[in-house]
Amino acid sequence: MTYLDSFGLKEPPFSKEIADADLWLPSSKQAVADGLLDALTERASVVLVGEPGVGKTCVLRAIRHRVSAAGYRLTYSHNATLGRRDFYRQLCLALGLAPAATAGNFFYAVSSHVEELARERVHPVFLLDEAHLLHQDTLDHLHILLNYQWDSRALLSLVLVGLPELRDRLALRRNRSLYSRLHHRLEIDPLAPNDTAEYLRLRLRHAGCERELFASDAIALLHEATSGAMRDLDRLAAAALRETARKKRKIVERDVVARVIEADTRERDR
Ligand SMILES: Nc1ncnc2c1ncn2[C@@H]1O[C@H](COP(=O)(O)OP(=O)(O)OP(=O)(O)O)[C@@H](O)[C@H]1O
Ligand SMILES: [Mg+2]
Repeated sequence: MTYLDSFGLKEPPFSKEIADADLWLPSSKQAVADGLLDALTERASVVLVGEPGVGKTCVLRAIRHRVSAAGYRLTYSHNATLGRRDFYRQLCLALGLAPAATAGNFFYAVSSHVEELARERVHPVFLLDEAHLLHQDTLDHLHILLNYQWDSRALLSLVLVGLPELRDRLALRRNRSLYSRLHHRLEIDPLAPNDTAEYLRLRLRHAGCERELFASDAIALLHEATSGAMRDLDRLAAAALRETARKKRKIVERDVVARVIEADTRERDR
């Protein structure tokens, strides 16, 4: 018997394999999703930052179908460590173009493509996840994508997503011309204590369990240990469920959570 059976769960409740339609959008995350949609409606570009695991990529997933249905063409990339030539090649492939390796060829290919899309009234959106890892020479060129026809048009909307250091990097003098073109600056905050409780409940419900499995002081401890980062919460909550099942208890209590956190910290510091 697995821990899932002990709690009547039909699937692992804290897996990252969550369907787009099941993503949780409390008001704080809905506001970020709306901010993104507003920016795209204006064909503007965006920078979105947040600490690791607070749900940045999931917010992108939560809006992707709506945006595609509204006549945007989304291209998602998380290969931010590529050098400039490979980056251009990849962008071409993602846009369905023959790969171009030089900046000149690239701009020619992309701009003809984008003009074609404009005739079809499709606006391209290039989502660059993990953008804090971008090489400086790639970053140096990104603003050119946003400066087209004597800076009267953007070729596409750029959505740069990354850790808070991305914003610090963009604010450096060297990157100011790119940063000044990213008019919409969004941030995802870590979960508040009430959010943590709501998130746990929602994910358990999606996995088939309607009853409260976590004692409230256990949730408080989980919240404190994860500082509102959902990926850490997923890992610790799943470990606490397994441990509770091993002890043949019905409810996840604070002592179990404390032990799980201790083991996790020990493992991390090894
Ligand atoms: N809106 C959401 N609904 C349900 N689960 C979510 C949501 N947002 C995040 N999660 C959970 O938290 C995990 C981490 O979220 P996500 O990958 O979006 O974080 P991130 O901010 O992109 O992290 P990183 O900075 O490491 O890329 C997901 O795998 C998922 O399990
Ligand atoms: Mg991410």
